[in-house]
Amino acid sequence: CPSGDERERVDCYPEGGASLSRCEARGCCWDQPATQGPPSCFYPTNHGYELSGGLQRTPLGYMASLHRLNTPSAYGNDREIIEVEVEIQQDYRLHLKLSDPKHPGYEVPEAAVKRPLATTLAEHPLFNLTFTSKPFSIKVTRKSTGATIFDSSVGKLTLSAQFLSVSTRLASSNLYGLGEHVHRSYRHDLNWKTWPFFTRDSSPAAGDSANLYGQHPFYMCVEEDGSANGVFVLNSNAMDVTLQPGAPDSAPIVTYRVIGGVLDFYMFLGPSPENVVQQYTEVIGRPMMPAYWGLGFQLSKWFYKNSRGLREVILRTRATGIPYDVQYSDIDYMEDRKDFTYDGNNYGDLPDVIRDLHNNGQKYIVILDPAVSTQKRRDGSPYVPYEMGRSAGVFVNTSDGKTPIVGQVWPSDSVFPDFTNPSGVQWWADNCRDLHNNISFDGLWIDMNEPSNFLNGSLSGCATNTRNHPPYLPDIKGSLLYEGTLCMDAKQMWGDHYDVHSLYGHSMAIATRNAMRSILPSKRGVVLTRSSFAGTGQFASHWLGDNKAAWEDMAWSIPGILEFGLFGIPHVGADICGFGGNTTEELCQRWMQLGAFYPFSRNHNTMDGNPQDPAVFSQAMIDSTRDVMMTRYTLLPYLYTLFYHAHVTGATVVRPLLHEFPADRKTWDVDRQFLWGRGLLISPVLTQGDTQVDAYFPDDRWFDFFTGAEVEGQYRGQTVTLDAPLNKINVHVRGGTILPTQQPANTTVYSRRNPMGLVVALNDSDSAGASGSLFWDDGESYDSIEKSNFLQVTFTASASDGIRCTVDALPVPVPSPPHWALLPYDKVDVLGLDLPDVPTVKAGRPGDLRDVDSGNVQYDRDNKVLRLANLVDMNLWVYSDLQ
Ligand code: NOJ
Repeated sequence: CPSGDERERVDCYPEGGASLSRCEARGCCWDQPATQGPPSCFYPTNHGYELSGGLQRTPLGYMASLHRLNTPSAYGNDREIIEVEVEIQQDYRLHLKLSDPKHPGYEVPEAAVKRPLATTLAEHPLFNLTFTSKPFSIKVTRKSTGATIFDSSVGKLTLSAQFLSVSTRLASSNLYGLGEHVHRSYRHDLNWKTWPFFTRDSSPAAGDSANLYGQHPFYMCVEEDGSANGVFVLNSNAMDVTLQPGAPDSAPIVTYRVIGGVLDFYMFLGPSPENVVQQYTEVIGRPMMPAYWGLGFQLSKWFYKNSRGLREVILRTRATGIPYDVQYSDIDYMEDRKDFTYDGNNYGDLPDVIRDLHNNGQKYIVILDPAVSTQKRRDGSPYVPYEMGRSAGVFVNTSDGKTPIVGQVWPSDSVFPDFTNPSGVQWWADNCRDLHNNISFDGLWIDMNEPSNFLNGSLSGCATNTRNHPPYLPDIKGSLLYEGTLCMDAKQMWGDHYDVHSLYGHSMAIATRNAMRSILPSKRGVVLTRSSFAGTGQFASHWLGDNKAAWEDMAWSIPGILEFGLFGIPHVGADICGFGGNTTEELCQRWMQLGAFYPFSRNHNTMDGNPQDPAVFSQAMIDSTRDVMMTRYTLLPYLYTLFYHAHVTGATVVRPLLHEFPADRKTWDVDRQFLWGRGLLISPVLTQGDTQVDAYFPDDRWFDFFTGAEVEGQYRGQTVTLDAPLNKINVHVRGGTILPTQQPANTTVYSRRNPMGLVVALNDSDSAGASGSLFWDDGESYDSIEKSNFLQVTFTASASDGIRCTVDALPVPVPSPPHWALLPYDKVDVLGLDLPDVPTVKAGRPGDLRDVDSGNVQYDRDNKVLRLANLVDMNLWVYSDLQ
């Protein structure tokens, strides 16, 4: 037994209830720890598997056979011989798979996660591999620094039918990701924490370690020198990930305990944090390009009661002048909570309400739940979606494979579409189309798709077998694997619910994206999903679920959003002002300020919560909300461009500071501030009563977005206390950045017709440089990128050359207004320009520069900002050199 530091011990009795005799029966070591955290029953060092027959070279790496050593696991059906496959797929990507070829475990299908197949061995891998043979272990280190990326020489490698486990070392204690849970801090606490993974309808009550709606077993680790690596285990079964500190002279340890499938790891070597995210989304799929209007402000509430209530909210919100693109309906629009219906009594004129929204440049999104009622319609007629679905065999079946499993959700007795069945996908699209014929929604909000069931398993419970009652139950919420969901022996096309449970929401998101595409073939629309898996970002947006109207919930929304950035679902936000409970005006005002910088910006609350749409508050609150939303809309061209980069390269949208300043250790813990892209820093107030905020400024030049003034004093690399009165959120622009902007309006339909602008924040190099870019298309077509129907402009600034706009891509053919061609620039602000006097400014095409009328040139000497207005004849995109 290892006699060293107890922080190195890997738990041999994770289910709890260990005793000396039970522990010894497992062949494990027993010793009461001196401190809290380490287990008393832990693995010896001679366990696991042994290499037999040596390592074989393969075209892509190595292959090895392993034989099990001595003591069996406690969970039955141990795999005697397993195969290790190592593929050096890219210089920056390693694939490691451990499985038993004789008893293949469940593998996430390609239809769910279409990972790239490697065909050639990467030539200059960033990593070294070392193997030990008895017990077998594999170690991956970074070539350049020796940092450990993965090292399975700790704990015990175990592969059995329903318990697979491996422990590995981390490069450092700077660990991020692993979701979906509430993490109070973005950087993980490694002090004996176990995070369970299994999609679950569970409220994210702060401080609770419950598994939530999505399953994302991916982490990023920032190494001591600021390089980053990422590790993903592609597995859809329920699992635990335990984090422990390791000995001080050693490194922290991660233990995976999975109850099915195979151990299928992808490791990403970065070396920058941004590279890691890009490399991860290259495997799971890049995030979709959202519709431009999907970046607008959105309003929702469960239970407006009837269309009068809905209209009232729409009208009063419009009257505030707060930019507002999208209105939602929650389940109360349905007849008896039946999908694909709307309530003729309370919402009889819903089509008129939607028409009115559309006439005002607004969009409408409705909710759909997976649970389909088995009951007749109110008037006694058959509920056609159910009847059709039944005869087409599209529902998840019980273990007999033929009878739909019945649970209870909003409409009481319900069945659950199998979105892994192509007929189910077709049936879903057909019904969505029928609904669309009645109420012309622009997007779909899919909820309760973990899937949630108000019963445990089914109306008749679940059978006693090893699917429903596996030998090891991860540390998930509740005491049953099927608590609040379906029986695990239920049958779906992709496999038993046991294996595919956590893919349910993901498959529903794929099916819903497919339905939207068939209904509105040329429009991206919005699909908003609660449950997600690795890769869901290709199809849908996400919100963080049923938070509370509480200050701490507002604060943890930032780590939540940063994490979903890592998971490749950048279009994400939390329910602004809180879902459960009643907000206060102050909290809601602060939350609207923060929410104006969520990539997905929606105020939503529960049925019995007081209305919290901004219009119900004081004029001061309304005014401040209008201002901050106007700021958001001003910045939408920048945000949209960030989404374009995310879609094409996998770059993050909302970005942790550590991604831009990885060598600055102070950034590793920053999670009360965040960036948009590389150039915009948001520092919200997250505490009740505060009118100041402590903001950290990494070592660079930073300007107040609103005044253009550089932050005062010796602020670089320092935390500065900034004024933050109730009506203000602090936003700073990084020197060296050019942000494309646009005059805001009440909806994106109108803002997109307004003149553009630029914020040019100069760096302080001799060349006074800055750069940025703009992506612009019609804002909603699926294939604008594929069809090259977009414009891309690079902006550069330098002391020698002024500000240049270079058209990198022009749409073919050049389209006409009103969409986007010929938008003038009416506002160019240059920040950080120290001039003796108001300058003369020239603008125009290269070779045809003309003086800008002096009335349109202002120089703010105090703040060192040059403001150019009304550059109306700078329709520069279409008059580019490229023409
Ligand atoms: C649960 C969702 O998380 C919430 O947003 C919604 O309002 C309710 N279901 C009712 O549909």
